[in-house]
Amino acid sequence: MVMKILDFSHQLLKDCIKEGETVVDATCGNGNDTLFLSKLVGKTGQVYAFDIQEQAITQTKQLLEENKQVNVTLILDSHANMEKYLPETIKGKLGGAIFNLGYLPHSDKTIITKGNTTIRAIDILLDYIKKDGIIVLVVYHGHIGGKREKDLVLDYVTNLNQSYYQVLEYGFINQKNNPPFIIAIQKRNQRRK
Ligand SMILES: C[S@@+](CC[C@H](N)C(=O)[O-])C[C@H]1O[C@@H](n2cnc3c(N)ncnc32)[C@H](O)[C@@H]1O
Repeated sequence: MVMKILDFSHQLLKDCIKEGETVVDATCGNGNDTLFLSKLVGKTGQVYAFDIQEQAITQTKQLLEENKQVNVTLILDSHANMEKYLPETIKGKLGGAIFNLGYLPHSDKTIITKGNTTIRAIDILLDYIKKDGIIVLVVYHGHIGGKREKDLVLDYVTNLNQSYYQVLEYGFINQKNNPPFIIAIQKRNQRRK
């Protein structure tokens, strides 16, 4: 079967990330991806999870506690500042990262991810990921502000140097109402863009 968007986003991460690695959830929200990554890297791995909303951090913390996962560092700050929190020692070794762009489901629809900060975070992550590491973005863009972010991010990733990065776009092009799609960036070589 052709994989659904969220299943495919997890499959991409699964294929590239190994147990024991450090990974990033750039938009933890209700914590579903954080939990997935936490299980994927296991007890010897580490997840850094970011969100700008206290509510998201609380929800994620609760989900992790319910599932007895203890390998996650939750950070109430913008992913644009992630360099402040990621140890220098994991530069070039990070297994991967995920973003779910848009707003927190069932919450304030005006608190959204934005093109410039998303791009800043991707830019930092490109330095941190290992060779063959992956950055997966699930792009929700039907809300107010979503199209602007989508256009900015697409423009940025389209221009990444193909010698160092391969960029995939995956989505269902006959679905109505601005369905989400995936952008995945995989590092081919360790050099900068
Ligand atoms: C679509 S939701 C994430 C859903 C989440 N992955 C889940 O499984 O529930 C997007 C999240 O991004 C957060 N966000 C918006 N701007 C952000 C930023 N600059 N840095 C980190 N998180 C941000 C929002 O607060 C929101 O919780």
